Amino acid sequence: MQNGMKQWQAAADTIRSRIGGKPKIAIILGSGLGSLVDVLEEPIEIEYGDIPGFPETTVKGHSGRLVYGKLGGKQVLVMKGRFHFYEGYDISQVVFHIRVFKLLGISDLLVTNAAGGINTEFKPGDLMMINDHISFFAPSPLRGVNMEEFGPRFPDMSNAYDSGLIAIAEEAAKKLDISLKGGIYAFLQGPMFETPAEIRALRMLGADAVGMSTVPEVIMAHHSGMNVMGISCITNMAAGVNENKLNHEEVIETGNRVGKSFAALVTEIVSRWPL
Ligand code: HPA
Repeated sequence: MQNGMKQWQAAADTIRSRIGGKPKIAIILGSGLGSLVDVLEEPIEIEYGDIPGFPETTVKGHSGRLVYGKLGGKQVLVMKGRFHFYEGYDISQVVFHIRVFKLLGISDLLVTNAAGGINTEFKPGDLMMINDHISFFAPSPLRGVNMEEFGPRFPDMSNAYDSGLIAIAEEAAKKLDISLKGGIYAFLQGPMFETPAEIRALRMLGADAVGMSTVPEVIMAHHSGMNVMGISCITNMAAGVNENKLNHEEVIETGNRVGKSFAALVTEIVSRWPL
């Protein structure tokens, strides 16, 4: 079933009545990066189960709730736990929250994720600014009737990751002395990790990191005119880059290990966010 205005509006109404504020920035937290919500001041939590139309997350390391609070001096709406295509959702459910955010008045989106490192100069624990993405291997969340009230049928994707926001993140990282890499994120459907041959192919295509989330949300947000920033946590080297076997536990462990510096960086970025 394709979601429509009624469902997005009902979810937005519920969230609005619970938070009693008008945040402009939303932050989506990736696997193992959920501890950012611990540094939110005056948090108000809403379980996904209490929001009409919100799917339930099924992935370990992704508990499902929205947390509204103050970070870096600004009110933010944080999504702890997201919906992945590999969980079996229709692509429109994977991005359900983005149009709800838009109806809430959110204009800016920070998306984060766990990713496998393809660039051999990266190491697990590195943070990577997403400068652009590759998404040949999954359906578009914009497939279907276009909703002109959100954006055009054929959106331009050439500045999907806002260059002004990228510069702000780089300055924030410099100030905190956190090494922030930059690169291209390739989106694959999962849930299986990639084969070494797929990783070699992705490297030839120009990808620096690979993951199973984020891109549908970015496409949807950019379509409706939001300013988007993306940060990947390189939780492991991708298949075949070294001898190590891949597993979800390593992804969660690395996310937890860098949780503190990730939270510090995001707080500094939000404090500098031009809003
Ligand atoms: N591949 C795909 N998704 C991922 C990986 C990976 O190696 N690590 C974390 N998410």
